[in-house]
Amino acid sequence: MKRETVHITIDGRLLEVEKGSTVLQAGREFGIHIPTMCFMEHLTPYGGCRICVVEIANNGSKPFVDTACTYEVRDGLVIQTKSPRIIRARKMLAELMVASAPNVKIAQDIAARMGLLKVRFPMEDNRCVLCGLCIRMCYEQMDGRALGFAGRGMDRKVSMPFEVRPDTCRLCRGCDFVCPGVVVPCHGVKDPGEFCGKCVRLDEIPNCCEFGTFGCFCEHNPL
Ligand code: SF4
Ligand code: SF4
Ligand code: FES
Repeated sequence: MKRETVHITIDGRLLEVEKGSTVLQAGREFGIHIPTMCFMEHLTPYGGCRICVVEIANNGSKPFVDTACTYEVRDGLVIQTKSPRIIRARKMLAELMVASAPNVKIAQDIAARMGLLKVRFPMEDNRCVLCGLCIRMCYEQMDGRALGFAGRGMDRKVSMPFEVRPDTCRLCRGCDFVCPGVVVPCHGVKDPGEFCGKCVRLDEIPNCCEFGTFGCFCEHNPL
């Protein structure tokens, strides 16, 4: 069957992409990098972390900001993935993410790739970035239906019903498998405002881990 396509422009490149795909999928197909945190292939996009924001103009409309992982392509879209407005928004989101969960390595990596050097906000010590990957993994792939978000604002967290493990949880550990907070933590952050990012900034020698951190390219963990 012939695949249906639409024409869109990303960062000035006119592209023919599959109808029904998202801006993120279209970008990835053509090697255009858009950072993601709460997105994972084969899980329903959630649009929670917003780090994948892009600027979109729909057939001459005023450009608006939306999440690439949830926005479906249609003919005539003009998308900017690296405009000053987008870079500013992503940097702010990344900084807030690191302030909330300084030792979650993926947050550090995203922020370091954006060139952040320090965090201006008070540091908390969360290991959960509220990406919801565990919830979707449990519900969509493991048929566990054991996890959900509870609470609002600062009290929002992932929880089991009444904080008790239900019978539907078979301890498959699918939730752990996808959780960014379970990956070996970044040990580089020690003081408020300090930013590590040494794994990504290869011009500095990473000496922050004892045995080599997952995803790190230091001498203990060469590629
Ligand atoms: S271990 Fe339990 S909560 Fe985690 S994915 Fe499996 S069924 Fe869901
Ligand atoms: S527990 Fe892990 S996977 Fe679940 S929302 Fe928090 S960071 Fe994401
Ligand atoms: S990756 Fe798109 S909103 Fe999180």
